[in-house]
Amino acid sequence: MNMKKNNAPIGVFDSGVGGLTVAREIIRQLPQESIIYFGDTARVPYGNKSKETIIRYARQIVRFLKTKNVKAIVVACNTASAFALDTIEKELDIPVIGVVKPGAKSAIENTKNKRIGIIGTEGTIKSELYAEYIHSIDPEISVIGKACPLFVPLVEEGMLHDSVTDEIASRYLAELKKKNIDSLILGCTHYPLLRSTVGKIMGPKVNLVNPAYETAISLDALLRQNGICAEEDAEPKYEFYVSDAADKFKEFANSIMPFHTDMINQINIEEY
Ligand code: DGL
Repeated sequence: MNMKKNNAPIGVFDSGVGGLTVAREIIRQLPQESIIYFGDTARVPYGNKSKETIIRYARQIVRFLKTKNVKAIVVACNTASAFALDTIEKELDIPVIGVVKPGAKSAIENTKNKRIGIIGTEGTIKSELYAEYIHSIDPEISVIGKACPLFVPLVEEGMLHDSVTDEIASRYLAELKKKNIDSLILGCTHYPLLRSTVGKIMGPKVNLVNPAYETAISLDALLRQNGICAEEDAEPKYEFYVSDAADKFKEFANSIMPFHTDMINQINIEEY
């Protein structure tokens, strides 16, 4: 067994605030680990951009995170995981994970009737990466995808419990409701914040899978495999960086994170 320890931070990035749902879960499950978070608030949303563009963005962010001496990277964005993870994984000399595989794995383990639904951005749904991965494990599972592009702005506007959100969610989910799925992957970083709305519409028989939760479990395993866990009594540090609108990010972060933060650093990501 490898007993080496490493207190260097973990780099976590997303197109904006959504990845905070993943950072929040990492902090809950791995409280001794430090985190450098980057939210690409100048270039959000990623969900409707091309693969080439997302790969360019991801490479820049990885270069920035490397300047902070991160020991591992979590691509805490479904769209970036779908489009750029394979590319950056080949280029990196430190371990990296995304959110797609952990979420898909959990849905595969949980489905009884082999019918899984997946909601996400247009990019994630069109990439069919979730379906591809699920079929590589079990080709008999039916995967039904549905893009829900208005969910991200609704969350960003703080309309988590709102009749407009209920109405839009009912329309988006109407088709999926007829497909007899027993598991639904919340395949976008923002969607766990709409869990109660989606849960009410889909009903108690549909298990909602939050990839953030599974990603933190996979990250723990990855750190152990590589012998780079922080010491048990390490004092964790959390640093937040954005490419624009630091104040708006701060407000959102303070509404969902388990602690208050005043320091959000703005950087020019195009320099990396
Ligand atoms: N973070 C993105 C994702 O998980 C959602 C927001 C965006 O479109 O950039 O797909």
